[in-house]
Amino acid sequence: MAEEVKVKQKMTVPQFKEMKKKGQKFTMVTAYDYAMASLVDKSDVEMILVGDSLGMVMLGYEGTVPVTVDDIIHHAKAVVRGAPHTFVIGDMPFGSYNASVEDAVRNATRIMKEGGVDAVKLEGGKYFAPVIKAIVNAGIPVMGHIGLTPQTASALGGFKVQGKDEKAAQAILEDALAIEEAGAFSVCLECVPHQLGRLISERLSIPTMGIGAGPDCDSQVLVIHDMLGLFDRFVPKFVKQYVKLSDQIIKALNEFSDDVREKRFPDLEHSFTMKEEVLKRLY
Ligand code: KIV
Repeated sequence: MAEEVKVKQKMTVPQFKEMKKKGQKFTMVTAYDYAMASLVDKSDVEMILVGDSLGMVMLGYEGTVPVTVDDIIHHAKAVVRGAPHTFVIGDMPFGSYNASVEDAVRNATRIMKEGGVDAVKLEGGKYFAPVIKAIVNAGIPVMGHIGLTPQTASALGGFKVQGKDEKAAQAILEDALAIEEAGAFSVCLECVPHQLGRLISERLSIPTMGIGAGPDCDSQVLVIHDMLGLFDRFVPKFVKQYVKLSDQIIKALNEFSDDVREKRFPDLEHSFTMKEEVLKRLY
């Protein structure tokens, strides 16, 4: 019997805040295309991030820096079409919010208006609080992103755990508080000690979204290609691979190739037919 497909209701910003108050956890995954977004829409996952990680997993760049606002909009449009029942966030790529507050508001507006997303996410701490405030005042919900910020990983000394000593942890806590104060509805904490994840989650009234930030964050995000085992270039410690689809895909591709070589495919079951008398006349 086919599994029953539930139709979920798209969540709202106040509902996410309410979930934190009630101690209810929620989840986000990345998606970048219609087919994957349609699958997420059929699942219990409440949020999709059209992340700038698309630079690596979809476009084959080394990092996220080359991703453009147009790239995010292009992928967001497909995701929004595929996931009408899921809250969708568009990532603000490197260079789209760093030059001026006006630039940031203009680009966030484009991502929401043209991409059709429900909110945007941007990397950076208290220095970016005025940017977050202006985008929120323009009517666009914002998720902050601190700790390890991949767009500026080289300045942080690479893809390393952040906030391990007292000074660094204090700075990340201050960033989180400034982001909340600026009006963000949530803050993503990437690659920080789980104890710092807990402290920040306790101090903030908005939900924290953890990725490598321990079990006490209010919600958790994973890059979908990592959790489904579709992207093996590197698998960070914080990733749990729920399935290894890349092996299954390669196996299926090899079976197709063998079937064609050995003339097992296509068989009559997968072919079309015509009436015998029509065929006779052709001969
Ligand atoms: O772009 C992305 O996938 C992200 C996640 C790591 C949160 O920002």
